[in-house]
Amino acid sequence: MAGKKYIATDSPITINEEHQGHVFMFADTNNIKRIVNHLSDQFVFIGFVTIILTIITVFILSRLITKPLVKMKEATEQLSKGRHKVELHTDRRDELGELAASITKLSDDLERLKKERNEFLASISHELRTPLTYLKGYADIISRGDISDNERNEYIEIIREETEQLAILIKNLLELAKMDQNKFTINKEDIEFGKLIHTITERIRPVFEEKNITFSVRCPSHIIAHVDPERIQQVLLNILDNAKKHTPQGKRISLEVSQNKREIITIISDEGKGIPEEDLPFIFERLYRVEKSRSRLSGGTGLGLTIAKEIVEFHGGTIEVRSKLGEGTSFIIKLLVGDCNE
Ligand SMILES: Nc1ncnc2c1ncn2[C@@H]1O[C@H](COP(=O)(O)OP(=O)(O)OP(=O)(O)O)[C@@H](O)[C@H]1O
Ligand SMILES: [Mg+2]
Repeated sequence: MAGKKYIATDSPITINEEHQGHVFMFADTNNIKRIVNHLSDQFVFIGFVTIILTIITVFILSRLITKPLVKMKEATEQLSKGRHKVELHTDRRDELGELAASITKLSDDLERLKKERNEFLASISHELRTPLTYLKGYADIISRGDISDNERNEYIEIIREETEQLAILIKNLLELAKMDQNKFTINKEDIEFGKLIHTITERIRPVFEEKNITFSVRCPSHIIAHVDPERIQQVLLNILDNAKKHTPQGKRISLEVSQNKREIITIISDEGKGIPEEDLPFIFERLYRVEKSRSRLSGGTGLGLTIAKEIVEFHGGTIEVRSKLGEGTSFIIKLLVGDCNE
């Protein structure tokens, strides 16, 4: 069309199937050219505006989304390299803000775990070093040879006790390690809870009698529990052993079992010296002992309650403590009834 001045049309005229002539029409192309030129200008303008808008959108998106994402990626890389303190401060309240907050929390948690691990390792080293010092000291004295037979026997007995204590500590630590790695297995079965309580109380009764402690047990018959009997026995013996250790002669310890629709509740109470309020929140923690000195006679490993709590929680139950200094302590263990915890 370019360069042509007109557009022409040719319409043949046919009347009664006879060709009568043609009508030719001519139109000036200037009008069309003007319209086409106008449209082209508009296309160029719209194309330009689209490119500018795209650039602006990409810029905004990269500032709003990509940049924070890159920052978070760098932060998680730092975390995986072991640098556990990363901080992603943001005021955003959208999903990206939440993700940044989660990463910062993860970093705080990792930092705390690292600290706890170091403290735990330090406590374990201390726990192992103390008996080893005893062992070496007494072995040295015995090997010097300038002691009486009585003394030698006494020192050998101390060495034996310390070795036993060490073996228990290591066994307990291994058990906790298994629990941490979820390799700990519990074999639940339906048992008559009363029978289990009977076995436990008969096992521990002589120890209480020896210390002249009154031991009363109340447990309704026909309670069926779905638990690992060995493990629950371990828990109850542990708590009863604590009660015995901390209750003076002539006092009372009681074990009471009751049941409601959902739970079997076992309460072990003693009239012992109690636990100071400031220690109560920590007594289920690893290696925590109220009396920090590790005396040979009263000294446990400080792992008994930690293991008891883990076992009860593995069963889907809970364990709580209530204590009043000078009046006594109660441990309350709640286990789910029957099969409903499966
Ligand atoms: N019935 C109780 N009365 C007073 N204090 C208690 C009682 N039970 C536990 N405690 C305190 O809680 C601490 C933690 O108990 P836990 O059973 O975990 O450790 P342990 O008895 O010292 O050692 P382990 O049980 O490993 O031999 C004890 O050291 C003790 O101070
Ligand atoms: Mg104990």
